[in-house]
Amino acid sequence: MKPGLVFLLVCLSVFLLEFVECQKDEKVTKNVAKNKRQNVGKKVKAATTKKTKGKPKVKKVKVPAKIFIMTQLLEEGRFQKPSDTVVLSIGERLVLRCKGKHISWAYPSYLDEEDGGRFSITHRKRHSQLVVVNSTGADTGEYSCWALDCDTETCRKEDSKTGSTYVFFTDPRELFVPANDYYEAVQLRTDRPTRLPCQVTNPLAKVSLHREFPPEVIPVDGKLITFDVKKGFIIHKALPLFAGTVYCVASYQGLMQSSTKYLLIFTNYPSAPPSAKITASSSSVPVGANFNVTCKVLGEIDIEVDFTWEFPGEQLGRPTYTRESQESVYMDGQIRQLSQSVLLVDEGRPVDDGLYKCVAQNLQGKTTVSTHVNVLPHTSPGQT
Ligand SMILES: *[C@@H]1O[C@H](CO)[C@@H](O)[C@H](O)[C@H]1NC(C)=O
Ligand SMILES: *[C@@H]1O[C@H](CO)[C@@H](O)[C@H](O)[C@H]1NC(C)=O
Repeated sequence: MKPGLVFLLVCLSVFLLEFVECQKDEKVTKNVAKNKRQNVGKKVKAATTKKTKGKPKVKKVKVPAKIFIMTQLLEEGRFQKPSDTVVLSIGERLVLRCKGKHISWAYPSYLDEEDGGRFSITHRKRHSQLVVVNSTGADTGEYSCWALDCDTETCRKEDSKTGSTYVFFTDPRELFVPANDYYEAVQLRTDRPTRLPCQVTNPLAKVSLHREFPPEVIPVDGKLITFDVKKGFIIHKALPLFAGTVYCVASYQGLMQSSTKYLLIFTNYPSAPPSAKITASSSSVPVGANFNVTCKVLGEIDIEVDFTWEFPGEQLGRPTYTRESQESVYMDGQIRQLSQSVLLVDEGRPVDDGLYKCVAQNLQGKTTVSTHVNVLPHTSPGQT
């Protein structure tokens, strides 16, 4: 090689090294600034000064590259990145490692209660290791880990450094992962998909969905209902006709078994907490006059709304009269439901003066609205 070229290459690599170092520095400063944002400290000042002096900022959110940190111990004693799904036989050992100083794990809930010493997690300086020995079908499930970025006080999940795999422990006698209950009630909610886990221990098992009464196979069309060997059946749209008792049947090599039964309860679920409006018949009334406060919710049809009231005379034992009603209204080309509660106050007294609060609640949450009512004292006859 010509000396000139060598020199050029050296220069180039020095430049690259410097560039990388510089980028690292910048990252560190950024992190410091982020962590200390709440404290008005010198470091923040330094960071902000640097920012203003620096080159014009390119507005770009830097998404850190995803790093897969999980490896699995293979029989030969080698660690290798596990595939999406790992299939082991019951009794076999599972060893997973995740790289990083601070690691958190998620694993089948059944292992949490395991105290026979079959399951362990060991944290080392540079990795954490999860071991399951004498495995059973119940150990089947998702195993995942993620790195934590810790300072002296708190740790925060590093979303870019994770790893996960789904492990099947095939049991020739048990096609389903044992469940805690023989019968499980599941809400068939209108606002989100419903999952029937029906977890199998063998990914090759054929699984179908059945209704108990009338006994029939529920067609799985891949749209309304889908099946995924890791997740089970998903009902994507809750329809009242799906309500009732269902179960799964798995078959593999001449063996056929039924799962836990699921009692599907159709629940019309609102998509959001109610949005309420409150109005008083008058914001100021003379003592002795009747008045009322109305709380109104205009929302989805067939959604129950509960109203509760808080008002000044409450503690003093003022009797409450509320009148509740529901009606369908046609608005903007849609049928909607108007639910309302009217709090009636007979012969207003000085104790009724103050804030009237209405809490409207549905299955998704509650909203509080309030309004003031002034009860004006009698003006003595002499003054008028
Ligand atoms: C695993 O199984 C072997 C053989 O049955 C037994 O000797 C051993 O104690 C078991 N280990 C644990 C931790 O259960
Ligand atoms: C509430 O008060 C207004 C004004 O006094 C009255 O028109 C209305 O009928 C009252 N509402 C109820 C439900 O009593």
